[in-house]
Amino acid sequence: MASGQYILENLNTAVLLFDDKLRLKQLNPASEVMLAVSAKQAVGSNIHQLIPVDASFIATLQNALETEQPRTEREVQLHLLHMHTIIADCTITPLRNAHQEKELLVEVFQRDRHLRIAREEQLLAQYDTSRELLRGIAHEINNPLGGLRGAAQLLEQELDDEGLREYTNVIIGEADRLQNLLRRMLGPNTLPHKKEINIHEVLERVYTLAEVESADGISIVRNYDPSIPELYADPDQLIQAVLNIVRNAMQVLDGHGTITLRSRTQRQFTIGNRRHKLVARIDIIDNGPGIPPELQDKLFYPMVTGRADGTGLGLSIAQSLVNQHGGLIECTSQAGETVFTLLLPLERTHE
Ligand SMILES: Nc1ncnc2c1ncn2[C@@H]1O[C@H](COP(=O)(O)OP(=O)(O)OP(=O)(O)O)[C@@H](O)[C@H]1O
Ligand SMILES: [Mg+2]
Repeated sequence: MASGQYILENLNTAVLLFDDKLRLKQLNPASEVMLAVSAKQAVGSNIHQLIPVDASFIATLQNALETEQPRTEREVQLHLLHMHTIIADCTITPLRNAHQEKELLVEVFQRDRHLRIAREEQLLAQYDTSRELLRGIAHEINNPLGGLRGAAQLLEQELDDEGLREYTNVIIGEADRLQNLLRRMLGPNTLPHKKEINIHEVLERVYTLAEVESADGISIVRNYDPSIPELYADPDQLIQAVLNIVRNAMQVLDGHGTITLRSRTQRQFTIGNRRHKLVARIDIIDNGPGIPPELQDKLFYPMVTGRADGTGLGLSIAQSLVNQHGGLIECTSQAGETVFTLLLPLERTHE
């Protein structure tokens, strides 16, 4: 591969080359990701097919082509296909090729992408801190609680009066309940046992467990991309993470609805500050009422719950398990569609 081509292939910035009719001649992988099309589909398309609703941006490009004046447009809103809008700085450079034909080189620096990465890094650090704090508290309570429980047991053995034993039973029973809670607050106490696995083993296991647990009115749909490469992970930890999300969905669906388990790959994705060539993307989708707005920003913090009997640990544990695999869980939600997305790197660099 020529070195110029090599640079272009690995560049984070979207670079597109158009002819004088604004038909796409060439694009790099970052552009494919941005436009959500493959080079094969996109090359030869007219710009109107690529960003159909963005008349003002197209007019800017046409103007640059006519005047042959390079320009930079800051904070342009681009309305792309697939409904999403990005904010970007665009540099537009009119060129003449070897045959003196006019061409237009467009570089798109996605602004919100950088904001997303910065925000994500900050959030991951905050989740870590709050989990550490909680683990510290749980640890401090755990030891004296063990002492209290042991003492109640000794006391129980000394008591002849059945009526009095009822009290020691209450102490022991409540201590056990607290200890279970503390164990969940402390999180997994074993290091992950990672090996090469197929993500669908994980999803199938969750599917089977969910089928058993769920009410008849809930259907669980599988929508897999069987070509996803193997990943290096602890299957039990991933089962736990996905199951926590699926259980939440079953709880909000309250006996009626659909949960979809979907697997895909996604190219060129940044998690925290690391850019990955390929990640596995697992979506868990339910058609329930959606996440209450007041919870949406703090879902992944421990002890955040919307349920009367919830402990608010499920999602925080899931996020922590997926982080241990170099991955991330994201969520989008509106009434009728809640999507939790697990993103897991597919290279084996983070052992
Ligand atoms: N799919 C969903 N749809 C609507 N709300 C959800 C969904 N998933 C989670 N939530 C909300 O997020 C809250 C936090 O979930 P999380 O799993 O962390 O804790 P929990 O389910 O309340 O308790 P725990 O999992 O520890 O038993 C839930 O209480 C619920 O209000
Ligand atoms: Mg839960």
